[in-house]
Amino acid sequence: MKTKLSVNINKIATLRNARGGNYPDVIEFARLAQDYGADGITIHPRPDERHIRYADAKALRSVVYTEFNIEGNPIPKFIDLVLSVKPEQVTLVPDDPNQLTSDHGWDTIKHKDYLIDVISEFKNNGIRTSIFVDPDLKMVEGALATGTDRIELYTESYASEYAKGHKDIVKRFAESAKLAHELGLGINAGHDLNLDNIRFFKENVPYLDEVSIGHALVVESLIYGMQNVIGMYQNKLKD
Ligand code: PXP
Repeated sequence: MKTKLSVNINKIATLRNARGGNYPDVIEFARLAQDYGADGITIHPRPDERHIRYADAKALRSVVYTEFNIEGNPIPKFIDLVLSVKPEQVTLVPDDPNQLTSDHGWDTIKHKDYLIDVISEFKNNGIRTSIFVDPDLKMVEGALATGTDRIELYTESYASEYAKGHKDIVKRFAESAKLAHELGLGINAGHDLNLDNIRFFKENVPYLDEVSIGHALVVESLIYGMQNVIGMYQNKLKD
């Protein structure tokens, strides 16, 4: 089974915002990413709009012809945005407003009632739901009761342990994925996945529907694209 690659374009917006104008243009990048083979586009608008803005989410709707995934903490402003944009998927993340990046999954037992309410609203509007969870069997089991269609396994611990050579960590993710599948849930994964660690994850974690990758993919695009671009500049600067 092919796992879909959803490209998170938040970092493109960070670059744009650094200069105040509209370069790079996130719309153009979403178009290019899809033309180059991305199976989806992910954005994670935060309440302070420090990278992707709410207006970007609206503008992207007509450009994303693959699968649009919007992630975030379902505060009222976020819920309104998602219901108006109607992406194919919404991924709910329990991040604080000022958090640098997502760093934990939902406590699906403690927040069960809250998640049931929010998830049913999205599902009633035809939007597939996914919730961010740690690779913890209790949390995966709890996800079922929330009514979510999928879980997104939080892969930071996999990435950091893999980098240290502790590959056994993948077993925890494989068990979580197996349980989720038995329960009838779809399985996404994301955070800190990169070209070094993605293949081992894919080979060892079954039933993986989709990964969303942003930070490393943008850095790797610079690494693998830089030689070409420096050559192009040198050509322009010839006598
Ligand atoms: N999934 C969630 C819930 C995230 O918050 C992020 C980061 O925005 C990602 C996946 C992608 O992580 P990365 O940028 O490290 O690839």
